[in-house]
Amino acid sequence: MSENIATVAYLGAAILFIMSLGGLSNPETSRRGNFYGMVGMTIAVLATVFGPRVDLVIGLPWIIGALAVGAAVGLYAARKVQMTQMPELVALMHSLVGLAACFVGFASYVDTSVIYTGAEKTIHEIEIYIGILIGAVTFSGSVIAFGKLSGKIGGKPTLLPGRHWLNLLALLIVIWFGGQFVAASDTSAGMVPLAIMTAIALLFGIHMVMAIGGADMPVVVSMLNSYSGWAAAATGFMLSNDLLIVTGALVGSSGAILSYIMCRAMNRNFISVIAGGFGTGGGAAPAAAGDQPAGEVIAVSATETAEMLRSAKSVVIIPGYGMAVAQAQHTVYEITKLLREKGVNVRFAIHPVAGRMPGHMNVLLAEAKVPYDIVLEMDEINDDFPDTDVSIVIGANDIVNPAAEDDPTSPIAGMPVLQVWKSKTSIVMKRSMASGYAGVDNPLFFKENNRMLFGDAKKMLDEVFVALKG
Ligand code: TAP
Repeated sequence: MSENIATVAYLGAAILFIMSLGGLSNPETSRRGNFYGMVGMTIAVLATVFGPRVDLVIGLPWIIGALAVGAAVGLYAARKVQMTQMPELVALMHSLVGLAACFVGFASYVDTSVIYTGAEKTIHEIEIYIGILIGAVTFSGSVIAFGKLSGKIGGKPTLLPGRHWLNLLALLIVIWFGGQFVAASDTSAGMVPLAIMTAIALLFGIHMVMAIGGADMPVVVSMLNSYSGWAAAATGFMLSNDLLIVTGALVGSSGAILSYIMCRAMNRNFISVIAGGFGTGGGAAPAAAGDQPAGEVIAVSATETAEMLRSAKSVVIIPGYGMAVAQAQHTVYEITKLLREKGVNVRFAIHPVAGRMPGHMNVLLAEAKVPYDIVLEMDEINDDFPDTDVSIVIGANDIVNPAAEDDPTSPIAGMPVLQVWKSKTSIVMKRSMASGYAGVDNPLFFKENNRMLFGDAKKMLDEVFVALKG
């Protein structure tokens, strides 16, 4: 394939990626968006493999081998991974982008097939240095995020004494070694500062994500998403590949916008979240044992729940992570349909960080064919709770915790929550009194107008559905 045809193919792929992002912004067009993305990626891979820079005689067996291994791992993961494990998988994939940027960086530094001189050499080395720096932070940060999201590492922030000074020191050392790297006379002299910087960047990535508390993980997930994009863009610069630069910039900037949206939704300051330990420091003592929410909880049965739903005029359903675990979305839809046929006004309230990944609940409800027009964002529905007869919370916890509004010492203080306690009756469906992802107790369970329906969400909703039909 000639250089010109490859350039046109890259341009077409870049346009398809932009159209894909546009499509993914709305549930109704998201399938089309995915399709554009798949076509764009196929064109990009073909144009790269058959492009002018690959010697097919030497390269083809390697490329086929790598494609076969990658496709096999991808297929296995896609079949095996549960929907609830998606965020961990995404974190793992981000780590691979970071690792790839590091490998490409080291490879292009020792590559002798292209000789750079003068200013071009300096620019190329700066690209390599920054590319490996971003790649290493993305790699180690994403591995720790994977550990935290999968529960292999505890959600509590690990805060080293003087951590801000440590970060500053790391930055200064990295800048100093950057100077040494660019000034190095040959590859072997440059390898030492490059390796030291890589080690520091890896430690920084670990330190940064370890310092972040459970409730702030959504911001970290989207931030690492953004970093992986910048790592890909840096790889594009190192390889002089325009498509990688464009694609990386698209992922990097959309991840940055998502981080901003997450911060706004959670009423957090981006810098404070990234600096770590948000809500745990600042002299606010954690709640003493006597301050834990206490009192009586009123448990109800599935039949009583069905009775309350049947006599309600307006119902708001609040899905959370537990609905995803129980895979209860289809029964939720059946119940919604039944209640709507009986003339009940049923709507869904979606918190921006419900579940474990952005849009988690929307995906599940769309899969169960819940109409989009009754699925509302937090800002659209929060004022309606006082006029709601029954709010039914399905496997959610942190996103309906009144402590976020009432208790300034809470790790989730200031995070906007769905005010279900303002409805006439709220019903919380979960298996026990256990806390949610942020590890914070929930005073909602003890409120006078709250009822608890204990059990697995799918099992209990099946029972509610049978009782409603009867
Ligand atoms: P959580 O606060 O994690 O609460 C989920 C609740 O579901 C748990 O308390 C659990 O209680 C219950 N549950 C689990 N399995 C269940 C089952 N099979 N049947 C019934 N209930 C079940 O979830 P949330 O309210 O959706 O809030 C999300 C949290 O995750 C926030 O803290 C958020 O910051 C964090 N987070 C979000 C994201 C994104 S981007 N959305 C990413 C990372 C972290 P039992 O064990 O008693 O059943």
